[in-house]
Amino acid sequence: MATGNGGAEKTRVRVTVNGRLVEAEVPVNMLFVHFLREVADVKSVHVGCDTSHCGACTVVLNGRAVKSCTLFAFMADGGEVLTLEGLRGSDGGLHPLQEAFHEEHALQCGFCTPGIIMTLYDYFGRGGDASEEGLRRALEGNLCRCTGYVNILRAARRAAARLRIPRKGLGV
Ligand code: FES
Ligand code: FES
Repeated sequence: MATGNGGAEKTRVRVTVNGRLVEAEVPVNMLFVHFLREVADVKSVHVGCDTSHCGACTVVLNGRAVKSCTLFAFMADGGEVLTLEGLRGSDGGLHPLQEAFHEEHALQCGFCTPGIIMTLYDYFGRGGDASEEGLRRALEGNLCRCTGYVNILRAARRAAARLRIPRKGLGV
């Protein structure tokens, strides 16, 4: 995946990243994932593929999880983005998802982890339930090359319990 800066026309992009305004003149063909990593210096956002299938680049943009490699930076102009660095629990400490991944040893190399946590954050935030099927569906766009899915699902269930998310959504 090229950053694509070679001689491209430039445009000004302003994005609020974890509450901090980041503004820069960037090539029109710069991908949002590169804006986050190189301009905003947010390193939890990873590039794990060049086919938009791994989910390692997932962030929450304007309240919805997106794969940041599928957008140009200018498409996020004026938006608000939340990444793993910006997640907080209600007491200002770790978010229950972060705690659960730590407690369940739900990572090996950790490359996929930020994207998986942001995907689950979005899923639970939209009323997703903690059923096996719901969690598996929510995570179908995120790959873990260390194949740690058993502990990832355990962590998701543990976080759901702490967040008081039912195993099955109302009306499902
Ligand atoms: S880097 Fe975005 S889906 Fe793989
Ligand atoms: S923990 Fe290594 S890719 Fe998921």
